[in-house]
Amino acid sequence: MDKLSERSHTCGDLNISNNGLEATLKGWVAKRRDLGGLIFIDLRDRYGVTQIVMDPSKDPNLSGLARELRNECVISIHGKVQERPKGMYNPDMSTGEIEVLVYSLKIENFCDVLPFSVTEKAEASENLRLKYRYLDLRRQDMKDRIIARSQITSLVRRTFEDLNFLDLETPYLYKSTPEGAREFLVPSRVNSGKFYALPQSPQLFKQIYMISGLDRYFQIVKCFRDEDLRADRQPEFTQIDCEMSFVNEEQVIELITGAIKKIVNTFLNSECIDNIPRMTFAQAMADYGCDKPDIRFDMKLADLSGFFTDCSFKVFTQTLTQKGIINSIVIKKGADFYSRKKIDELTEIAKKFGLKGLAWVKKKAGSGINSWHSPISKFFDDLLVQKVEERQSFEEGDVMLIAAGAYDQVKSGLSAIRLRVGEDMNLYEKGDLKFLWVTEFPLLEQDVDTGKWSARHHPFCMPREEDVSKLEHEPHKVRACAYDLVCNGYEVAGGSIRMHDPALQESVFRAIGLSEEEAHKKFGFLLEALKFGAPPHGGIAFGLDRLVMLLTGCQAIRDVIAFPKTLKATCLMTLAPSRVPDDSLKELELISTYKET
Ligand code: AMO
Ligand code: AMP
Repeated sequence: MDKLSERSHTCGDLNISNNGLEATLKGWVAKRRDLGGLIFIDLRDRYGVTQIVMDPSKDPNLSGLARELRNECVISIHGKVQERPKGMYNPDMSTGEIEVLVYSLKIENFCDVLPFSVTEKAEASENLRLKYRYLDLRRQDMKDRIIARSQITSLVRRTFEDLNFLDLETPYLYKSTPEGAREFLVPSRVNSGKFYALPQSPQLFKQIYMISGLDRYFQIVKCFRDEDLRADRQPEFTQIDCEMSFVNEEQVIELITGAIKKIVNTFLNSECIDNIPRMTFAQAMADYGCDKPDIRFDMKLADLSGFFTDCSFKVFTQTLTQKGIINSIVIKKGADFYSRKKIDELTEIAKKFGLKGLAWVKKKAGSGINSWHSPISKFFDDLLVQKVEERQSFEEGDVMLIAAGAYDQVKSGLSAIRLRVGEDMNLYEKGDLKFLWVTEFPLLEQDVDTGKWSARHHPFCMPREEDVSKLEHEPHKVRACAYDLVCNGYEVAGGSIRMHDPALQESVFRAIGLSEEEAHKKFGFLLEALKFGAPPHGGIAFGLDRLVMLLTGCQAIRDVIAFPKTLKATCLMTLAPSRVPDDSLKELELISTYKET
């Protein structure tokens, strides 16, 4: 019963126990069937669908009205619950044993011709769905995802509140402090010529909360990044942002493992996560070629560099003299599936990552070089074959793919090919969720073109104690107290222990080439705050959209965001971004007030 509403029940409430009861229902016409003798309507709201029925022989006016109804009109009805005739039960509906015989009907609103069917699975283009998002959200699968998002958000809040975290807000009008991605700028009318920036994350404010003594902070918060979009990236997205005081890396990982286990297992009503394994960044790069490995399937990369130094295949020997590497993956039982055409498709992936090509070998019966079917087998001999096969299992019917090139090209190329092969060969269960902690990230990274060092994550991550002395002369060897939570090949969360010692923070700014003056200009408020009794602290942020995407089995975060932007960063429903009148621009001093003569 719904007392604070003009209806007596929702469309998901009624069942056989209500037989004989009078009810008032309101909702959308999902389907109308006019069987001449009787008119049936499926009436839908958020909670379900109830069949209502009208008998033209008993009430011709009512039936005349009902015949005007199109799908998606909004109606109110009053009537009596009755059991459906035996044999007409619908076991797929919670209300499937009953129907409501209508006494009165009111059309609350008509519906225009629909741009796409709301009830059927007909595939409308994504652009059309985004333009009429309110219709798209009426569809069952979209509605289920948005409701799932709300349930997950609520679970997140309960979980962190139970752990003594305070739900605290941070400003959206923020100071421009580049963290990595490009920022969205907001002009200040009151301070002409000056700009706020929308936060890429509340990173510095959450650290300031720790310095303020609030001990444990969390927030489900919008973040803004003006970067190139992909299936798992939006310009505005939502983080579950956390920070805590007096913790070390081990404790953050343990606490967050407990929290995510609770959230995922409760939502899925299963024990699908138990322990979350860990892997260092170095291991992830060696075995999977990336820092967010999909561990639902094996197929690790093998480093074959040392085996090819003396072979006569120039592509390989030249790669090695230019300090490149040679890695391989073996596709078990892949020889039949991977025809020349399919291998060409994989080669195209390799080329996207800058590799010139991709070598392949199919293993035939027998041993030695005669068992290697490959366009380049003529360059190799039995001894090399033996060494390679001792390094990784390579059996009859398998395919080996070998990539030679610069480290980044080989790792990223083979990593992408590995994911494609995993999908092609159905190497994992689609519904599986495999979480993994990746740890010991490098603190810094070097730009290949300029040679400049920058923070790999953000410049507030603590270097590992044993590596601090290398900051000045061997920056590439410094590892951070930083960790990412990965699931099925997606980075779902990332965090670190922060520096609470202002001197150490300043030395990291120096290592990334920020002069003292620049550091103070950009982050002066943080450096100052660190001098007033900053506690040791650390934290993490989850991408809520990515988490919901994984838990609902979607392929793109657009599918779990009610009002997302397109890949071109536009909103097709409201048509944002849009031009604004010149007067507004003048007021903000973004264009000159006076026309030049
Ligand atoms: P980071 O930049 O790794 O860390 O972001 C945290 C998580 O947010 C998600 N994410 C995104 N999701 C959708 N669209 C995007 N454009 C996007 N960018 C990031 C990812 C990512 O793991 N302040 C730090 C956190 C910390 O150190 O505590 C931060 O923002 O899932
Ligand atoms: P090519 O010398 O371009 O005719 O290539 C001869 C073979 O070497 C082909 O099978 C290519 O796919 C392969 N090949 C070319 N470049 C690479 C590379 N960078 N790594 C691995 N194999 C390569």
